[in-house]
Amino acid sequence: MDNKFKQKLIGQLNDKETEMNEAEFLSNLEADILPLQQFITYYKCAIMEIETKFRVLNEQFSINSESNPIEFIQSRIKSYGSIYRKLMAKELPRTLSSIEENISDIAGIRVVCSFVQDIYRLANCFLQQDDITLIEKKDYICNPKANGYRSLHLIVAVPIFLENEKRMVKAEVQLRTIAMDFWASLEHKLRYKKGLPQETLDLVTDDLKKCADQSAEWDMRMQNIKNLIEQ
Ligand code: GTP
Ligand code: MG
Repeated sequence: MDNKFKQKLIGQLNDKETEMNEAEFLSNLEADILPLQQFITYYKCAIMEIETKFRVLNEQFSINSESNPIEFIQSRIKSYGSIYRKLMAKELPRTLSSIEENISDIAGIRVVCSFVQDIYRLANCFLQQDDITLIEKKDYICNPKANGYRSLHLIVAVPIFLENEKRMVKAEVQLRTIAMDFWASLEHKLRYKKGLPQETLDLVTDDLKKCADQSAEWDMRMQNIKNLIEQ
């Protein structure tokens, strides 16, 4: 421990020295924290940009078709713990530039829609916007995961405009129906990445898959009912 800092802790410095020391201490702390705050702010801004785009589309769609296609939007910044675990799992360097380059879901936006067709309408409109760059699309609705997970995933880059620069920032957008979200949220709580023993997994896997398929069937029926009403 730095000697002045130790003296300050035990109250042996006079006021002037204490002030100096405190200023030094705070400025060192700030130098450490500032780059990280700046880094996370980019992702917070990307979330704001993308959320606004979906809110705008929701407004516009509600005028044209008299109902809002979006039930709700949830966003999150990936926790430091999850970032660390992902870097370790992928054997990647633990630096800010490695995180920026290799992890595309620091900013996560989940758009929960009423009907399956809303997902594709919204996704198409969003992707057509000329400031959105599609990096990767995973359609787990047309091609559900083996466990039954369904959602449309888009990895995109969006520009954010800061005082002196424009930056492209990556984000993961997940679009799903209420039924898909119901299943995924509960399955996540029950199982996802929990490292359950194989015998427990064997017991629940089939049933969880059946629940996912039943949810998908309900989605289809609700979509058909909507189509019939609108004919
Ligand atoms: P990650 O390393 O977890 O990001 O996987 P990935 O890079 O292969 O991406 P993928 O698009 O498959 O999944 C990313 C995100 O989708 C996860 O972080 C979850 O939010 C969600 N997800 C994917 N698979 C499942 C699943 O089986 N169950 C649940 N509940 N969520 C899932
Ligand atoms: Mg992910």
